[in-house]
Amino acid sequence: MEISPLNASNMGAYQDFGEDSLRAWDPEGDDGRKYLLNPTILRMLGAPEGRRLLDAGCGQGYLSRMFASRGAVVTGVDPSSRLLGYAIQSEAEHPLGIRYFQRDLSRLGILEDAPFDAVIANMVLLDISDWKAAMENCFSALREGGRLIYSLYHPCWAPNASETWSSKRHVEINEYLQPYEVQNKHGVNFHRPLSAYLNFALSSGLQIVEIAEPLPEHDELRAETDDIMWHVPNFIVVCLRAGHRQRK
Ligand SMILES: C[S@@+](CC[C@H](N)C(=O)[O-])C[C@H]1O[C@@H](n2cnc3c(N)ncnc32)[C@H](O)[C@@H]1O
Repeated sequence: MEISPLNASNMGAYQDFGEDSLRAWDPEGDDGRKYLLNPTILRMLGAPEGRRLLDAGCGQGYLSRMFASRGAVVTGVDPSSRLLGYAIQSEAEHPLGIRYFQRDLSRLGILEDAPFDAVIANMVLLDISDWKAAMENCFSALREGGRLIYSLYHPCWAPNASETWSSKRHVEINEYLQPYEVQNKHGVNFHRPLSAYLNFALSSGLQIVEIAEPLPEHDELRAETDDIMWHVPNFIVVCLRAGHRQRK
C-alpha cells in the first residue's frame, strides 16, 4: 500500500496509540461523536439495514461496527496499521462481517465491494494533504444516487479557540480564507475554507442534500454536554448525492 508522504506525521502519532486509548473509543467514539456526529450521520444515512457502506478512513472502526450492528454491509479502509489493526482484531473477536483494507484514500484504487450506497468520511478529509484526489475517489466509489457524508472540525475553529471560549465565552479566529496546517497531538490537520470542499464537489457534479452544524439532539443533554456545544458549532457534516456522471 502506498501512503502519500505528507500523512507521515499523523501515521507516526497514531502508531503510538495504546490499546487502552483505542478501546476507550468504543462503542460510540468521544463525546463529540456520541452527541453530535453519530446522530447526524445516522440521520443523513437513513436506515442502514442492507446498505453497502464504505467507512473511508475508518480509524479503529467504531463507526463501521455501529453500521454493521445495524445491518449494513460495511467495508472500512484506513492507512494506519495501528488503528486498522485494532479494527481487524475487533472484527476477529466479535465478527460483524466487516471487511477492512489498508488504503490511502487519495490513492484508493478499486475496492471489491464498490460501488457503495454511501461513503462516510468521518473527520478524515482534514487529515489528508491530497484531499481532492481523496474526495474524487470517494465520488468514484459511489453508485449513481449514492451519498457521500463527510464531517470536519468546523473551520470557524482556529487553534486554541477552545481556550478563548473557557476564558471569554467566544472563539477567536484570525485566519479563515487561507488554508493552513494545524499542529495537534495527532500530527497535522489541514484547515480549509468550507467553500473549497463544497465547490470541488459541486464542480464534480455532486448535489448538496444537507449541510448540518450539529448540536445535541435533546434539551435533556444540557447537563452532560459541554456548554460550547450549544453555542458554537464544533463540526460541520455535509451530505452529497452522486449523479450519473460520478462513476468512472
Ligand atoms: C480523526 S481520525 C477519524 C477516524 C474515524 N473516522 C473516526 O471517526 O473515529 C482520522 C482518520 O483518518 C485516517 N487517514 C489519514 N490519512 C488518510 C488517508 N490518506 N486516507 C484514508 N484515511 C486517512 C487516519 O488514519 C485516521 O484513522
